[in-house]
Amino acid sequence: MSDDSDRDELVIAARRAQENAYAPYSKFRVGAALRFADGTIVTGANVENASYGLSLCAEAAAVARAMNEGHRGGLEAVAVIGSGKKPVTPCGRCRQMLFELADLGATDPAVWCASSEDVEQVLLSALLPRAFGPGSLD
Ligand code: THU
Repeated sequence: MSDDSDRDELVIAARRAQENAYAPYSKFRVGAALRFADGTIVTGANVENASYGLSLCAEAAAVARAMNEGHRGGLEAVAVIGSGKKPVTPCGRCRQMLFELADLGATDPAVWCASSEDVEQVLLSALLPRAFGPGSLD
């Protein structure tokens, strides 16, 4: 598979996940897709709450799902898509959660940040330099 079709497949998976976003308060719908070295794709969407501060981001939902499906490392690429005009870059908490999963397998995943109009690539290490992670506790 070429890099482009890898990217397209992951962005399409994130867009499909976005359809399940529960975002009645912000109306900002986000989908995320994680691709692992074994080819598995795990997705999530944001889940808001009437108690606004409890809202869960799409990336956090996808990381929690992946962990619960037994993934520990092997994170090769991430796609995030939002309903705004500009590509969504993961929030700080999501960067940290993605880092933990990636660090378990010592990868530095490409993060495809998308909107319906644009897709931009950035490495997780650029989004979260000098990250605090499992090794920081040694
Ligand atoms: N959101 C995400 O799902 N991921 C991000 O990286 C940024 C923000 C969600 C949280 C909330 O439901 C909505 O977008 C507006 O902030």
